[in-house]
Amino acid sequence: MLKTEIIEKIKKLKQKKNAVLLAHYYQRSEVQDIADFLGDSLQLSQAAAKTKADIIVFAGVYFMAETVKILSPKKKVLIPDLSAGCSLADSCKAEDFKEFIEQNPGYTVISYVNTDASVKALTDICCTSSNALQIVNSLPKDKKIIFGPDRNLGNYIKSLTGRENMLIWDGACHVHEAFSVENIIDFRKQYPQAKVLAHPECKEPVLLLADYIGSTSALLAFSASDNTQTYIVATEPGIIHQMRQKSPKKEFIPASSSNTLSSEVDDSCGACSNCEFMKLITLEKIYDSLLNEQFEVNIEENIRQKAEKSIVKMLNL
Ligand code: 13P
Ligand code: SF4
Repeated sequence: MLKTEIIEKIKKLKQKKNAVLLAHYYQRSEVQDIADFLGDSLQLSQAAAKTKADIIVFAGVYFMAETVKILSPKKKVLIPDLSAGCSLADSCKAEDFKEFIEQNPGYTVISYVNTDASVKALTDICCTSSNALQIVNSLPKDKKIIFGPDRNLGNYIKSLTGRENMLIWDGACHVHEAFSVENIIDFRKQYPQAKVLAHPECKEPVLLLADYIGSTSALLAFSASDNTQTYIVATEPGIIHQMRQKSPKKEFIPASSSNTLSSEVDDSCGACSNCEFMKLITLEKIYDSLLNEQFEVNIEENIRQKAEKSIVKMLNL
């Protein structure tokens, strides 16, 4: 089927079934282009909580689709590929996290949304990279905090707040951990006028070289409002599609995890640090998902209710 035909069929099916398509900024460009709502993980969970659609097709990874289902249990939530997982969520299994919490009584548990529903159910307040600082700062200075699962985001927040009473789970995202200081220095030599933008899931030495650190949407907003011409982008390169749309005259270079310098972003670009889980979602799979109403995300009600509390606390803050 031609791409234009698939897009037309997706539109018709969405209308017929009162469905919406939500897509994360790390999705393939062609998926981003047909989304009803595009955003980072926080914006998508907020959009999902408000939609009046009967079916939500989620173009992103499984924990994000699960978050949508937690907030909209009566809606049919579909993910076009069940293998769209997340290395960060996988680095924190509920049984291990539970043991960690039990070993450290008296701590408030804050979890990044990049977790399974069963980990959210063990959590007091969720956060995303957009609001992690705000959530941590909402607790009195003397409150002891367990922060999971991303060690880089956790340590970054710890350094910003100066809190000594934060215990950090030792998890990480393989995509963001792959950016190295050596590569960023090489990029800086090639593009001396450029600013380096980095996601807080990158390792501390990389963050120390960044001119601006922020969540996916914060990096996008910064690149649009700042007056530099060239940017080296140390996060998943899917976001560059939106950066280029908002600032067509600026140059955005994906900070690859290899030494190959590439100003071309391609969804299958070998030199770029693509998240292979995010890129599993294709137009064809979105069409199949709508047509066959597959693959439905379901969560055990007891877990869902507990997980909902921690997400709602975050949304209320
Ligand atoms: P955001 O919270 O910035 O959307 O990031 C989600 C994610 O998966 C980062 O790797
Ligand atoms: Fe998970 Fe990393 Fe992919 Fe984000 S980029 S979805 S944290 S594996």
